[in-house]
Amino acid sequence: MKAVLDHIGIAVKDLSAALAFYRDALGLEVEAPEEVASQRVRAHFVAVGGAKLELLEGTSADSAIAKYIEKRGPGLHHITLRVDDIAQALARLKARGVRLVDEEPRSGAEGSLIAFVHPAGTGGVLIELKQNGPHARA
Ligand code: CO
Repeated sequence: MKAVLDHIGIAVKDLSAALAFYRDALGLEVEAPEEVASQRVRAHFVAVGGAKLELLEGTSADSAIAKYIEKRGPGLHHITLRVDDIAQALARLKARGVRLVDEEPRSGAEGSLIAFVHPAGTGGVLIELKQNGPHARA
């Protein structure tokens, strides 16, 4: 199986502080935010070479990101590996008894399919698998 680093998700508590660092201090370009209403989260992508940083801001106190920050503080949240066939990747993991958050792929941004692998199965890293939608840009 082949996998490509797609993005690294970073849980952000204070967006203006995050922008002050990534945009102003480092001078990186921050894309227009994407609202993921179902997850009550707003994502700000920062292009860094072939991969992106995803600054994740909870839009409600009961969002998964807000709860994560409450429990563990802001910082690294997940890494996302892009695969050609997410169903096959999940089948491989299931066959090896790896604990999954999502047993089946669900829809992500821009027509993509995503599924999370539980940190208990990966040595402590929340891993998001992603298969691009048919019309995704590279
Ligand atoms: Co992500």
